[in-house]
Amino acid sequence: MNESRIQASHLRDRIMSADRAASFIESGMTVGMSGFTGTGHPKVVPLALAERMAAARARGERLRIRVLTGASTAPEIDGALARAGGIEFRLPYQSDPILRDEINAGNVDYVDPHLSHVGQQTSAGVYGPIDVALVEATGILPDGQLIPSSSVGNNKSWIDHAQKIIVEVNHWQPMALHGMHDIYYGMALPPNRKPIPLVSPDDRIGEATFRCDSNKIVAIVETDAPDFSSPLSAPDETSKRIAAHVLDFLDREAASGRIPKQLLPLQSGVGNIANAVLAGLGESHYRNLAAYTEVIQDGILDLLDTGVLRMASATGFALSDRAMRRFHERIDFYRKRIILRPLEITNHPEIIRRLGCIAMNGLIEADIYANVNSTHVMGSRMQNGIGGSGDFTRNAYISMFLTPSTAKGNKISCIVPMVSHVDHTEHDVAVIVTEQGLADLRGLSPKERARKIIAECAHPDYRPLLTDYFERARKGSYGEHTPHLLSEALGWHRRFVEAGMMKM
Ligand code: COA
Repeated sequence: MNESRIQASHLRDRIMSADRAASFIESGMTVGMSGFTGTGHPKVVPLALAERMAAARARGERLRIRVLTGASTAPEIDGALARAGGIEFRLPYQSDPILRDEINAGNVDYVDPHLSHVGQQTSAGVYGPIDVALVEATGILPDGQLIPSSSVGNNKSWIDHAQKIIVEVNHWQPMALHGMHDIYYGMALPPNRKPIPLVSPDDRIGEATFRCDSNKIVAIVETDAPDFSSPLSAPDETSKRIAAHVLDFLDREAASGRIPKQLLPLQSGVGNIANAVLAGLGESHYRNLAAYTEVIQDGILDLLDTGVLRMASATGFALSDRAMRRFHERIDFYRKRIILRPLEITNHPEIIRRLGCIAMNGLIEADIYANVNSTHVMGSRMQNGIGGSGDFTRNAYISMFLTPSTAKGNKISCIVPMVSHVDHTEHDVAVIVTEQGLADLRGLSPKERARKIIAECAHPDYRPLLTDYFERARKGSYGEHTPHLLSEALGWHRRFVEAGMMKM
């Protein structure tokens, strides 16, 4: 045991093995786990639990739990528990392939709220009692307060509301993380809410550690295990073209005076396209920008290194191995420039609206009127979840969606007549960007939007089909405002089936 990590002498008798700690979790319990995009998740207790679940299944018994997290976690949680058939209910965002298959096979009840809603719904008791909080920490202070690890997510909610707490103290996490977090304790349920006093992304409004009632801690498990690294490939031609359109647009917005020369706080999803935009910013003239986002990925570290970004506010990381090493080596530099906050603050509509964020997220498909589907393939198969995209899209100053114009080797158009599932409506979506071009939809009527999206964003192979649909809809539609041929609109997706891409 390393005493400098667990400074609370009154808690030392609760240090135990992962197996023993896992035995506090019983079938049917609701467990709030730490973790966000593969960082800050518990590394060993879920694996011990998965073994118990698999053993129970082999005996013909069931050990299944309700799993609540920050968002996607890592193979040690979602993958291992889903493989053991041990998840009966899961929320919010996930991206694990095994869990995804279990959800789509109908074996897991998956609930997909906006990430900003999870904290308040937990406080309101919507998900029932939280039986156990299972959270990773960097260390425990003498008074029992927890030094957060590499993500915050919903940990504050789990720690505040759980009946029992299991803490994994991870020696792999640098102690120098202490001071990077800002845990705000002023949230309340209506009618007792007050304005959140955050007026700039740089503001610190909370505390560096989690308050934690030591009486609730039933187990402490020491680990020395790395976060899950997010592999990143170099931006491809498509991502670079999308990034170039985005940067041209931002330049034009700044030049016209609609946004400041230092832009507005940037939010971006993760993945290659987001990374290409960040790389593009790295080569631009911009300096001293701010990111108010959910996740810090490699490109954000690069921009902090060069001063293009002065700071980044987020709730977790999604870093490649190399970037993780760099982060650890230069953590004193980054601690002055990164603030990690609870999701209920990073994604809070009041703050996103006040700061005037520029939101950039990905999609599965958009329709010609700018409704966006971020979650369901063919309207029925869950991909990941809405995550924070709804929080940002509805409340940002400019809400952009970035996507290749086609998927599955050009066999599917990501621009369709009518989306097969709606996550973001035409009222929220301001700009759509593909490698073909950028459609600025602000101030346009539905028919103007349709013409613009088809002309600027659709792949040339699909433009004639979409134009033909739109023109026929104009003649045969019940109303002229948003022309549609209802029976044909969704039938469009049949072509994916006919092309052998999907089963219906
Ligand atoms: N029809 C059918 N399948 C499609 C499709 C379409 N129009 N568009 C994409 N796909 C498939 C891809 O082929 C890929 O399939 P695969 O896993 O079998 O390879 C899969 O969907 C993911 O697509 P990909 O191109 O890898 O997209 P991505 O990594 O850029 O992710 C989303 C796109 C929408 C899934 C992702 O952005 C997401 O989960 N968004 C919601 C949450 C979010 O925005 N979070 C950030 C908020 S802070």
